Parts: sequence; structure tokens; C-alpha cells
Amino acid sequence: MVKDLTEFYSKAALNMKRSEIRELLKVTRRPGIISFAGGLPDPRTFPVKDLEEVSCEILREQGDTALQYGPTEGEPPLREALAKWMGYEKDSIKLENILITAGSQQGLDIISKVFLDPDDIVVMELPSYIGGLQAFNAYRAKMIGVPQDAQGMRMDQLEKVLDNVASRNRKPKFIYVVPDFQNPSGITMTLQRRKKLLQIAYQYDIPIIEDSPYRELRYKGEDVPAIYSLDTQNQVIVLGTFSKLLCPGLRIAWVMAPAEWMDRMVVAKQSMDLCSPSYTQLMVAEYLKRGLLPKQIKKIRKLYSGKLKVMLKTLKQHMPEGVKWSQPDGGLFLWLELPENLSANDLFPKAIENNVAYVVGSAFHCNGKGQNTARLNFSYSTEQQIVEGIQRLAKMFKESM
Ligand SMILES: Cc1ncc(COP(=O)(O)O)c(C=O)c1O
Repeated sequence: MVKDLTEFYSKAALNMKRSEIRELLKVTRRPGIISFAGGLPDPRTFPVKDLEEVSCEILREQGDTALQYGPTEGEPPLREALAKWMGYEKDSIKLENILITAGSQQGLDIISKVFLDPDDIVVMELPSYIGGLQAFNAYRAKMIGVPQDAQGMRMDQLEKVLDNVASRNRKPKFIYVVPDFQNPSGITMTLQRRKKLLQIAYQYDIPIIEDSPYRELRYKGEDVPAIYSLDTQNQVIVLGTFSKLLCPGLRIAWVMAPAEWMDRMVVAKQSMDLCSPSYTQLMVAEYLKRGLLPKQIKKIRKLYSGKLKVMLKTLKQHMPEGVKWSQPDGGLFLWLELPENLSANDLFPKAIENNVAYVVGSAFHCNGKGQNTARLNFSYSTEQQIVEGIQRLAKMFKESM
């Protein structure tokens, strides 16, 4: 064995950070813990029977293709189906714009690999998706956070950040946003902000990455047009995934990008895994062809909207004054804000002692702040567990005040 392993690791590998969430998930698997920590879908929503049927048919009818290497871009029937699906919001979307990935997390890695050199700047919401932070950090990017309010990223603050960056003769490589029922905050960016974001992106000549795994999971209010559907300058790359619509275990997701940008991304994926599994791609293509997705989405919406209602109601009944939370219209998460003098980080071990878990909000802040915040997931626990878990948290916060 060599004396000092770190001498051999690349700077990039040394810079990689372990995901706090993945670490927390280990603790939260302990029996008896009510976990609001992970972003896990409720397994009751997994369409096991339908997937069993389509997987048998794919093996029977298309076994040779399903078990073979496939094109890096993805299986054409799935890309075709996705182009149609994404085309409901913008009719110019073609198969050429779709790249199938092993989860959106791989999409984030591909984008990072294609766009980021060490010290490049990425602009993102504050807070933002931890997996995005992790991917950008692995490529040694500098992340700048832009505060949000209930309408999403604050555009006055974004302009300030971009002016400041420009004054140093720098330009961010992209603006990364999770505009629908954001992970972690649950906030949805308003139409007005989306339009303004595009206007700013055009003015400063910066691509936008629109990462939207929860878009279909709306429980109340009106749909807001996707940013890509409003884009007239081919400046938006979209990340979509089946993780929260079907199940994360299939690892089927996609990047949708202007055709000119596709080539580098395909090459980047080639060195990662050659291609995504043909079998699961064809399964999802067949699932879509059978028209099963709308019914599945309806089922998920019903279950999760019930859980969200219960969480909101219990928070209102039990949380002490001074604790605030977001009011998501969809998705899987809501955001808790404790009084400034309380630290969700310091209270975390106590929460675990009380058999309830959340994710500390600071993990989602690229500036290391947000110590008094936490993310709560409402999709995984049962309604009964939600009531019990929120009561435990409320009691703990009261005692700590
Ligand atoms: C905003 C966001 N992007 C990407 C992902 C990654 O999803 P997956 O790799 O399962 O497709 C998630 C998962 O929670 C997410 O919330």
C-alpha cells in the first residue's frame, strides 16, 4: 500500500464532497425513525404490475435489442416519446434534442463535464439542489447563490450578482435553476420571474439550466409555463427524470438541449457509461406508448397532496411561534425556517434521539449559510407518521427556544 493516498488523487477527487443527504439517509434507515430527510417517493406509487407486464413484453418481443449495447444518445422509441412529451409545451422539440441519461444526476455531471473548468462560475438559487452543488463542486466550479423569495429567484439580486461578476471581467458558465416546486424549498418561480430570467440570460449571454423533476406533481394552483417553452433564443438546457413519476430504481432521465449543444454532451456520456441500459429505456418507452403515465401521475398527485395537507395542518397546529414554513403547490418538499438563534444543525442529533429526521438547510446553501433552516420531505412517510413526526419536532423546537 502507498504511504499517502492523497498524493495520488486528482485535485478534482480531493475536492469532491460526500453528500450530507446520502450520509444522513444511513442514520434515518434506523428502525423507528420517522424520516422527513430523504427525497424518496412512496413505494406505494411504484407501478409494479404495469412495469412487470411491459418488462416481460420487452424481453419477449425485443430481447435482442433490450439486452444489447445501445446508442449513447438513447433508444430511439424513448427519445421519440420524450420529444413528443416535451413538445406539448414547445412544438419545435425533436428527437435530436433528447439525450437519455442514468438519472438527472448524470445529466448534471454531463453538463458539468462539458461546461466547467476549475474556477468557472455557476449561478444558482439560494438554497439549491444539493446534488447540483455536489456535481459542480466536483468540477471545482465557484458557486454564487442568489436569494429567493416566495416567487423564486430574485431577479434584482441576480442582476447585481451578474454585474459584480462582469466587473471582474468574468462571465458565469450557466444559471442553474429548479423552477418548479424547488428541491429544497418547495418554491415555484412565477411566470413574470421566468420571463425576466430569460431576458437577463439573453442580455448577459448566459445559458440557463432548467432542472425540473417535479413539474408534473402539482397539487393546487395553475401550471406555469416551463422556461424552455418561453425561450426564443435556444439558450435553455432542460433536465427531466422519471425518478419521481415512475420510480428512481429504473434510473431513466433525459437532457433536452439545443441540437448544436448535443454533440459534446453525447461524447461526455460515452466516457461515463457508453450508453444507458437499453432494457429499462425500452420498458419506459413501452409504458409511455401504452398511455399509462397520465393515470400514474394522477395517482401520485392524489397521494402526495393528501400528505402535504396533513403536514401543513400539523405544522400550523403544533409549531411554536417564530417557526415559519413554505407553502408549496406541489413537489416533495417544504422548507422550515427557525428563529435566527436556533440552529437546525445543532438540533439534528437531538432530533435523531427523538426518532425524527430532517435535512439541515445549510447543506443546500452554496455559501454555507442557512443554519436556522431545514428541508422536510412529505412524500415518503405515512400521514400518521407525518402527524407524529411534526409533533416530535415541534416539541423539540419549543423546548430549545
Ligand atoms: C432538482 C433535482 N435534480 C436532480 C435530481 C436527481 O434525480 P435522478 O438522478 O433520480 O433523476 C433530483 C433528485 O431528487 C432533484 O431533486
